[in-house]
Amino acid sequence: MTLLEIKDLSTIFKTRRGDVNALDGVSLSVDHGCNFGLVGESGCGKSTLLKSIVGVLPPNAAVTGGQVLFDGRDLTKMDEDALRKIRWKEISMITQSALNALDPVYTVGDQIAETIRIHEKADKSTVRKRISQMFGLVGIDAKRFNEYPHQFSGGMRQRAIIAMSLILEPKLVIADEPTTSLDVIVQDQIFTNIRRLQRSLGFSMFLVTHDIAVVIENCDRIGIMYGGKIMEIGPVAEVVSRSFHPYTMGLKNSFPNIVDRRCELISIPGVPPTLMGTLHGCRFAERCPFAADICRSHSPVLTRIGADHHAACHFTDRVESMREKAARAGTWGDSHSSR
Ligand SMILES: Nc1ncnc2c1ncn2[C@@H]1O[C@H](COP(=O)(O)OP(=O)(O)OP(=O)(O)O)[C@@H](O)[C@H]1O
Ligand code: SF4
Ligand SMILES: [Mg+2]
Repeated sequence: MTLLEIKDLSTIFKTRRGDVNALDGVSLSVDHGCNFGLVGESGCGKSTLLKSIVGVLPPNAAVTGGQVLFDGRDLTKMDEDALRKIRWKEISMITQSALNALDPVYTVGDQIAETIRIHEKADKSTVRKRISQMFGLVGIDAKRFNEYPHQFSGGMRQRAIIAMSLILEPKLVIADEPTTSLDVIVQDQIFTNIRRLQRSLGFSMFLVTHDIAVVIENCDRIGIMYGGKIMEIGPVAEVVSRSFHPYTMGLKNSFPNIVDRRCELISIPGVPPTLMGTLHGCRFAERCPFAADICRSHSPVLTRIGADHHAACHFTDRVESMREKAARAGTWGDSHSSR
């Protein structure tokens, strides 16, 4: 059953140099109890999408079209008061700068207690008990309730943020690069912990990351984003093992543990587009080794290529040949080599 459904969502940033089309017609859905992972390079619109969902965009941004249906209600039509009731209580967000999200002036325990007090009527001892239980679940010693954020290590602070995001038992947890600043071991511990908590609390997760391997380990479905658009979307195993979009093929090449046949890492030369002004054709055309004239003039639409698997490329009918070529470093070395 669908918990979150995003339909044709577009968001712009107004800047002195013109409009930045950060999101362009994004559609996706997250089911109850499932994890969706969104992957893409820096600047492709991942954080903008999350902020558009929960209505925390900066003042120079505006949602220009589309819907965000959460449990059937369109969040883009809600006023700030109504949204504030939903944030934390029904949808919580672990932001990209989570390590700085705790206020240095208050103890960690008090900050989590405040989150409860804003949304619920609960007496002090009940609040304290709930936080101790949650500390236990995320692996923080309850004795640390009265400590300040600076007394916590990076990993502990991140656990505290997770405790805060789960304390009101939301239906959806949105996590924007929740472990980026932590080392791989702590990162693994945190995800193991989140999966365990999911089994007992049953929330869905919308995870944003640069790291496709993290999505493979933790998510059911994946969306590959580029230039403010979804390029490929579907079940993780399907998208990773039978990629239809050249950008997905390129991203896979740049991660060691999912390159099946060899250890060689191949990066995609060039940088993502700036998203300023009107954009024609496929957003990936500048860097795509398979780009043809039609790619520069016509934007490909997301097309169904399997059960629940969609890709936006003009040449999905030539996928076998593209996959074979995409696995070779030489194909990407000169990003305009032949098809
Ligand atoms: N406040 C802002 N004003 C103007 N443009 C912005 C603003 N915030 C983001 N952008 C632009 O919107 C686009 C999408 O940015 P966004 O932060 O959503 O990307 P991202 O995928 O989250 O990147 P990262 O992986 O680096 O966090 C980029 O082109 C970025 O420059
Ligand atoms: S539409 Fe063209 S440029 Fe875009 S990914 Fe497909 S082949 Fe490459
Ligand atoms: Mg971001």
